[in-house]
Amino acid sequence: MAQYTVNTLEHHWMPFTGNRDFKSDPRLLVRGQGMYYWNHKGERLIDGVAGLFCCAAGHGRREIIDAVTKQLEELDYGPHFQTGHPASFELASRIAALTPDSLNRIFFGNSGSEAIDTAIKISLAYHRARGEGQRQRLVSRERAYHGVNLGGTALGGLVKNREVFGLGLPGVLHMRHTWLEENKFTMGQPAAGAELAEDLQRFVEVYGHDTIAACFVEPIAGSTGALVPPVGYLERLREICDQHGILLVFDEVICGFGRTGKAFAAQSFGVTPDMITMAKALTNGSQPMGAVAVKEEIYDTIVDAAPENAVELFHGYTYSGHPAACAAGIATMEIYEREGLFERAAKLSPVFLDAVFALQDIPIVTDIRGYGMLAAFDLAPAGMPGLRGLELLKRLFAAGLHIKMTGDTCLLSPPLIAEETDIEEICSITRRVLGEL
Ligand SMILES: Cc1ncc(COP(=O)(O)O)c(C=O)c1O
Repeated sequence: MAQYTVNTLEHHWMPFTGNRDFKSDPRLLVRGQGMYYWNHKGERLIDGVAGLFCCAAGHGRREIIDAVTKQLEELDYGPHFQTGHPASFELASRIAALTPDSLNRIFFGNSGSEAIDTAIKISLAYHRARGEGQRQRLVSRERAYHGVNLGGTALGGLVKNREVFGLGLPGVLHMRHTWLEENKFTMGQPAAGAELAEDLQRFVEVYGHDTIAACFVEPIAGSTGALVPPVGYLERLREICDQHGILLVFDEVICGFGRTGKAFAAQSFGVTPDMITMAKALTNGSQPMGAVAVKEEIYDTIVDAAPENAVELFHGYTYSGHPAACAAGIATMEIYEREGLFERAAKLSPVFLDAVFALQDIPIVTDIRGYGMLAAFDLAPAGMPGLRGLELLKRLFAAGLHIKMTGDTCLLSPPLIAEETDIEEICSITRRVLGEL
């Protein structure tokens, strides 16, 4: 086992963490296997959120470890600018076999944030290649999370993630979010709210359809607290985009790879976008990797517009399609297929959602939402927003459960290998600790 001598925590500036608070009482994860983590005190925690929506096949998968090790021994690194490596082509084919329709051209990066910024650039490049370079506005949504690079920050709709970072990209328009009071405690897709998609139509009318390049949405808005799309909402966005030549991009960084019971939420909801961004469970969290699946027509348009033998898209990362990440991705896809984990998620979903929704009798739980193997509940704030949420996270950790909090909203998305007894354990720890708050 890896051993580290940790004498100080001060040098690592931790992301999305209260550094002073954390360092006064750290929570270190030192081992993971199956449904469990172990902390530095040797205590076991059940993983209620697949790490951070990443480890769908559970922790410590031997097949992935072996594949990455073998790859690193053979070829540790090779650039993908004008040279290639077989693993990236293989992984791209496997992803294309899972994506809907003709979303068969796969561009690799290293994170969800890079996938989003790549999708922004591809949408601008596509319109320019079609002679509509004036289409530069981007539409997204309040409460959206599209990562933390500057493009994704501009699209994002969570106030704290934007407020100190300047004006962002010009020309970004935010539709309203889809949380509605009347939909509280709805399991699955809420009935009310399809009309919120008309916000996109209003932007078309105010700004002109031919100024809008693309509309970005998470099919289920994840980080903000699993806002499930109202019935008819995504369909209406698709319709408006089709009518006005606007590209529709689904950010499936959380939803992708079985979380909704199918490979992608696009398939679960029966709406096909023009691009899908993905990351996290793409490598089961074992290697950093993100990707964008792009419709063939978009790829063809951009590629055909460039002179013969010229670079067609001036974009890419040093680690785009890193061999170790590709090896991890291929091994992960094999596990998903061999173990039927997407189908397993669909089967387990009613058990999971019933168990989470049973928490609704707890007075401080003010709403619960969920779809597939993704759910969230809101807590009534106590004092400063987020304080009660942090307290819950700490107490759950101490009680042996790892979850994700966004402010006062708790997210649950267990690995898809979970057994019913694991779901029971996650929900019974949650109930007990909520009773102590
Ligand atoms: C929908 C969505 N998009 C993008 C991202 C950013 O991914 P990353 O943290 O890998 O950059 C996330 C991360 O949670 C996400 O949930």
